[in-house]
Amino acid sequence: MTKMTSRVFNFSAGPAILPEVVLEQIQSEMLSLPGVGSSVLEISHRSKDFDEILNDATSRIAELTDLPDTHEVLFLQGGSALQNVMMPMNFLTEKTQTADVIVTGAWGKKTAAEVSRFGNLNIAWDGGDSGYNKAPQQNELQLTPNAAYCHLTSNETIHGVKYWDLPETGDAPLLVDKSSDLFSEPIDIKKYGLIYACAQKNAGIAGVNVLILKKELLDRCDDRLPSYLDYSKHSKAGSRFNTPPTFAIYVTGLVCKWLQEEKGGLARISQFNQDKASLLYKEIDQSNGFYSGHAEKADRSIMNVVFTLQTEDLENQFLTEAAEAGLTTLKGHRSLGGIRASIYNAMPMEGVESLAQFMADFARKNG
Ligand SMILES: Cc1ncc(COP(=O)(O)O)c(C=O)c1O
Repeated sequence: MTKMTSRVFNFSAGPAILPEVVLEQIQSEMLSLPGVGSSVLEISHRSKDFDEILNDATSRIAELTDLPDTHEVLFLQGGSALQNVMMPMNFLTEKTQTADVIVTGAWGKKTAAEVSRFGNLNIAWDGGDSGYNKAPQQNELQLTPNAAYCHLTSNETIHGVKYWDLPETGDAPLLVDKSSDLFSEPIDIKKYGLIYACAQKNAGIAGVNVLILKKELLDRCDDRLPSYLDYSKHSKAGSRFNTPPTFAIYVTGLVCKWLQEEKGGLARISQFNQDKASLLYKEIDQSNGFYSGHAEKADRSIMNVVFTLQTEDLENQFLTEAAEAGLTTLKGHRSLGGIRASIYNAMPMEGVESLAQFMADFARKNG
């Protein structure tokens, strides 16, 4: 049971809300991990005790995602920003090769910008003309024959756009930024070359990036790469090329345990997430234009619900009154404005119900 007595409902896009039971476990184990006698903050990353933490987090991710033998889990640092650099460095090794990037929002745009430093960039589709409010259909993509890879962002956190159906990319491996929707729904890992996600939204806390990598791609990593930026070095070292973010990995393990034991796995959490999102979208759709959703209906995110009101003054009033009601961090990203409710796995139904009720009352009073 979630007890929210002294806590607000925090709709931050990230770092974001964590399951309360995870916070409680961290608190109860902070001075001494059971059977260890030291805090997780104090143990060596080469110790047997940390082996257990790392193995536990890895195997829970494997269980949750039905990880096939063809893929492996890695824990890296540097956030998703570093992945934008490592992908072209590792997989776009010849100047003549091209990477296709599908741009459905601000994060895809950042990924594309890094590609052009290392090789040819082909923007296979860009939703900028319509303000990044949708994902493309397959027949709209301008894919390159023999591309080194194709990249997309499965959930654009700022624009609230979800790429529901993965595109067909032929032999080009699909590299996907799942920073804001990893673990939000079942996933067919075989379809991906690389998945990466900064943990601070749906998989833990800032400091660790969860990667799921197709092992055969490691053959492409060039020995001349700076060691730290070479995926194969991290793979060979089992995510311990240097001191890994031990505490962040421990928290990811606890979040996965919560997903498995309390939330019933990814199929169940996906239904829960859809139920939560549909409560908010319903308020938007039945408000007679008082609220306008940013994304087109078919491409709406179930993690980040992004909408506007008619004026900035009204939005500011909405944010102030919402915060007074214990509904916080609802301001849209500075580049887009408006309102954004991030409702990751850990956001309880009560939080979303409170926000939906607040939206209905606010519209009635001010419409
Ligand atoms: C989809 C997406 N990609 C990348 C990032 C950047 O992650 P980081 O700050 O860990 O580099 C974020 C979040 O901030 C995100 O939402």
